[in-house]
Amino acid sequence: MNELDELLLHAESQIRQANDLKSLDHYRVSYLGKKGQLTEYLKNLGQLPAEERPIAGQKVNAIKQKIQVILEERLTALKETEINSQLSAESIDVTLPGRGQLPGSIHPITKTRERLEALFGQMGFTMMDGPEIEDDHHNFAALNIPELHPARTMQDTFYFPDGSLLRTHMSPVQIRTMEQAAPPFRIIAMGRVYRREFDLTHTPMFHQIEGLMIDENVSFSDLKGILIHLLQNFFETEVPIRFRPSYFPFTEPSAEVDIGCLSCKSKGCRICKNTGWLEVLGCGMVHPNVFTAVGIDTERYSGWAFGAGIDRLTMLRYGISDLRALFENDLRFLRQF
Ligand code: PHE
Repeated sequence: MNELDELLLHAESQIRQANDLKSLDHYRVSYLGKKGQLTEYLKNLGQLPAEERPIAGQKVNAIKQKIQVILEERLTALKETEINSQLSAESIDVTLPGRGQLPGSIHPITKTRERLEALFGQMGFTMMDGPEIEDDHHNFAALNIPELHPARTMQDTFYFPDGSLLRTHMSPVQIRTMEQAAPPFRIIAMGRVYRREFDLTHTPMFHQIEGLMIDENVSFSDLKGILIHLLQNFFETEVPIRFRPSYFPFTEPSAEVDIGCLSCKSKGCRICKNTGWLEVLGCGMVHPNVFTAVGIDTERYSGWAFGAGIDRLTMLRYGISDLRALFENDLRFLRQF
């Protein structure tokens, strides 16, 4: 009888200390299983004298029940801890402050492109697109720049082994447009162009916008009117504008357009090299040889075209002094836009 009481004490302390389901089961088997300690007592009852058997039997059964109860209690407790730890591991503290997220910003070159597209859109120009890998015909020959023409050296070109090339300007898009449709045209094209030059003010890849307007009776005054309107709206000021005679193989007459220096108000500074003027674009009346190359009747139609550096326009408008800042993707710079 004493042994049984001790067994109960022992079992109780072991079971209360079991801290996972596996060890709890281990104790259940070792006390109540087929070969368990208590089961052994039951089996051995028969060896007792007949008058002691009932009392001993009751005692063993009572202890068996107590152990079962202790096992149950412990099982419930263990399951509860398990659920609680799962709950706290998976819970979300909705009172925590949110992690700050910096809003993105539009790249200044993209901003300029969007502004140009909007400004030309108001004047009825639509956007055209073309490939960055071009052929000699669209980039040069159809633009009145035949092989061995000295103007080819004006634009130092990246060539592929098969003779195709990276477009050096956006003019090939104009050729493709004129080849595919009939006048009238009011189009602009914007995109990446490539030239073999790399220094403080030149990168091998830069962005250009070119525009083309062709119709009956289009004259140089249309060109002037639209470009002056465009520049003053783009820079949001009545900036002085002058047209200087120039040369391009694909336009005749040709001009380069200067605006009064924005940073010194035309007084002369480092940015305008003390001239008071900044060159912003090239333009001219489309050369008859270009019309002939794309099959447009030179007697019926006339037109003008222009080309400008988007990167340069961006730098002038936002007062950016280093061209490379536009391509370095430094967030400290980009976040300012
Ligand atoms: N295609 C010329 C360039 O890249 C720019 C230009 C376009 C000039 C149209 C005149 C007319 O430099």
